Amino acid sequence: MANKSVWSDNRFWQRSATWVTGFASVLLIWLTFDTSAQISMGDDADLKNGVTKRVPGPTVINYKITYEMDAKRGHEVPVIGEKEKFFGRDDYSEEEAGALLHLGKLGSQAKNCMDCHTLLGNGAYYAPDLTKSWLDPAWGPEGSMQSMTGKDTKEEAMAEFLQHPSQYPTHARMMPNLGITAAEAKGLVAFLKHMSSIDTNGFPRNFGKIQGAVHGK
Ligand code: HEC
Repeated sequence: MANKSVWSDNRFWQRSATWVTGFASVLLIWLTFDTSAQISMGDDADLKNGVTKRVPGPTVINYKITYEMDAKRGHEVPVIGEKEKFFGRDDYSEEEAGALLHLGKLGSQAKNCMDCHTLLGNGAYYAPDLTKSWLDPAWGPEGSMQSMTGKDTKEEAMAEFLQHPSQYPTHARMMPNLGITAAEAKGLVAFLKHMSSIDTNGFPRNFGKIQGAVHGK
């Protein structure tokens, strides 16, 4: 027995397996709690007090959202700025904003946006990634979509497009009319605006390279 190598000792392997399994379990439990804390949604008080949350509360739709390069992290991060009107108002309460986002989320599921688009990493790449579509400069004051749809604001232009996409083709592929109502379109735009404020660790990767997308143009 004296010459037996540790590598052929059963007890050594049993103990190693116990320690590795124990350590991995503790690590997984810790990571689960850490992730839950990171992705839990903030609220209106956080926004008012300037507390940064990865997933801001629904009332983020009352604010201007821009992106800035974070040199330390090596990618763009969302910056919640000044108050900004959204369909004529910048005073949506937590309940009102929450109800709008809920309507948009249900609409996105009912109309299967993910069949063609990607939302937060889920979905298809037949059509543009929607994770940061709110920040696509095409909808901004210098983009083509406001004049094309005859609307003066980003949110109204987007809502108009969503209700009648086949009237405003811009890509080679056309988005079909999905029978989206005005109320649903408003919810969907709120849903997309909120999504753009989520800190996604720089996803989608090429987002910052879209001309004018960063610095809130
Ligand atoms: C059958 C495929 C399909 C479905 C389903 C679909 N879309 Fe689209 N969508 C497209 C295509 C294709 C384009 C590009 C069309 C264009 O620009 O003319 C587009 C463009 C868009 C744009 C403009 C993107 C940008 O950055 O400029 C938005 C916003 C959008 N879709 C939202 C939605 C939403 C919200 C839903 C679900 C309610 C949805 N789409 C469902 C195919 C689809």
